[in-house]
Amino acid sequence: MKIEALHHFHDFKTAEEWAKKFSPSPARMDLFETMLKSIKQLGESHFHIVELGIGPGFLADFLLNRLKNITYEGIDCSEPMRQLAAKRLESFKDRTTFTTANLTDDNWIKQVSQPPKVVVTTWALHDLFTQDNIHSVYRNTYQLLQNDGIFLNGDFIKPDNIKVEYEGGRLEIKTHLDLLQSVGFQSADCLKEFEKNIKNPTTANNYACFEAKK
Ligand SMILES: C[S@@+](CC[C@H](N)C(=O)[O-])C[C@H]1O[C@@H](n2cnc3c(N)ncnc32)[C@H](O)[C@@H]1O
Repeated sequence: MKIEALHHFHDFKTAEEWAKKFSPSPARMDLFETMLKSIKQLGESHFHIVELGIGPGFLADFLLNRLKNITYEGIDCSEPMRQLAAKRLESFKDRTTFTTANLTDDNWIKQVSQPPKVVVTTWALHDLFTQDNIHSVYRNTYQLLQNDGIFLNGDFIKPDNIKVEYEGGRLEIKTHLDLLQSVGFQSADCLKEFEKNIKNPTTANNYACFEAKK
């Protein structure tokens, strides 16, 4: 058995089915609330947020509804996902932009419209398949962020000491924290784990929220 999710997000039907299946559950809402709490601690209200792998726009919808003065930029390589997000975020279109880019190509940061105060991402970076790709995204995110900015990554992890084989983008908590610190973040913490299940691990449980401060 290998914990491995292979998606074809360039296919409209796959993207639509994924969005239906993963419409935010209470545990995902808890992840979003954890991120919101961290963002509110910045004590500012007017700033730019960039989301890596915005998908159908669930987190964007949650944050734009609660943070009335932010602007939001969603990055994704999938046109069907961009369309689903644009539909969901229609009422925020004056504060939202979309950038089509591939996060495994270091040039993605050049496509971002302005330096953000906050970079967020959920359930996306494991899809980059390798630790090296995630390390590169961490390095680029550090470069992109304003000073005193924060990065929040809520992604699937490989639980410690588990016997099951995991795909290359699902890393242990300690590995995430080491990678974040290695690119220059002043602090890196795991704020919370969600749907922890060692006995019956699946592709959709065992995820954690990481916070890194520049
Ligand atoms: C599993 S979905 C998660 C979507 C959303 N963040 C959420 O939590 O609902 C992963 C998203 O990351 C995007 N993605 C995967 N690999 C990517 C890459 N190399 N560059 C940009 N986006 C990517 C996919 O197109 C998809 O929209």
